[in-house]
Amino acid sequence: MSIAIIQGSSGSLGSALTRYILENTNLSVYALTHRPRSAEGDLSCKLLEGDIKGKGKERLSVAGEVDIRNEDGLARAAEIVRGREGEGRVRLIACMAGMLHPEKSLSSINPSLALEQFQMNTLGHLLTYKHFVPLIPTKKQFDKLRSSSEWKDGEGDPAQGLIGEGNSLCWSMSARVGSIGDNHRGGWYSYRASKAATNQLIRTLDHELINKNSSAIAVGYHPGTVITSFTKPVLGENIKPDPEHGRFNIDQAIEKMTSVMGQVKRGDEGKKWEGRCWDWKGDRIEW
Ligand SMILES: NC(=O)c1ccc[n+]([C@@H]2O[C@H](COP(=O)([O-])OP(=O)(O)OC[C@H]3O[C@@H](n4cnc5c(N)ncnc54)[C@H](OP(=O)(O)O)[C@@H]3O)[C@@H](O)[C@H]2O)c1
Repeated sequence: MSIAIIQGSSGSLGSALTRYILENTNLSVYALTHRPRSAEGDLSCKLLEGDIKGKGKERLSVAGEVDIRNEDGLARAAEIVRGREGEGRVRLIACMAGMLHPEKSLSSINPSLALEQFQMNTLGHLLTYKHFVPLIPTKKQFDKLRSSSEWKDGEGDPAQGLIGEGNSLCWSMSARVGSIGDNHRGGWYSYRASKAATNQLIRTLDHELINKNSSAIAVGYHPGTVITSFTKPVLGENIKPDPEHGRFNIDQAIEKMTSVMGQVKRGDEGKKWEGRCWDWKGDRIEW
């Protein structure tokens, strides 16, 4: 069984990505959420709503109480995956969790909210990789996987083009405002800094993946402005999508995001995808 790990799976983009994977690939999904275990059943129903139930029911496992501010939940969830599936089966780790406290100026800096953003946007992603990267196939394990009956007797790569046939993927939601070079307006001190730090950890992770002969590539991603519960407090309730200018509803954002995921490849001389942050057009965001 080839697996996708979705961290932050109950959020707007996290739940939409989970549903996309269940509908369009043959990957099994472990959907991690910080919600309590008593909410696992409800989340599972929400993720399987509509036609997806028939296709995805057997392939979805929801793991509650995975609060990324606390390493224990991540360690427990990784042990569950290891115990059920063994190592070398995780093709995608998508870190979707994030938090925004939009400070307009120095006077609105709140140390505990600033710290929480670092815990959620940066350290939480790093800890997710700490516990789940060991479950990604090494290049050698990946070659074996490709000649296994799962690929040969089925429809080929279980990822079905979501990610490249030749790689696994560590994917972190970053943001354009994490770019220092692109900071023309100021504001949002702690969110900007936490996302800049996410870009640094993605770069560093990619070096470790190479050194450990992992099949994975690490990249950061900016989805544009997506109208979700996350952005509504900033954008207002009546905001409409404007795809030409990078403002999307959730379905449009997932279409763009999965298209970029499928293009990531190591050794692509034109792009050099690995260890860098990309936007919804597939353009690189400067550091
Ligand atoms: N929307 C945009 O325009 C936009 C733009 C740029 C970047 N992004 C980034 O995209 C990501 C997703 O954004 P979104 O719009 O989908 O936001 P959202 O709907 O608010 O989702 C936020 C996510 O954080 C997770 N979360 C909250 N507290 C958590 C905790 N303590 N431990 C673990 N997970 C926790 C939630 O999942 P669970 O409840 O399942 O844990 C949820 O998936 C964020 O990283 C955000 O910075 C969004």
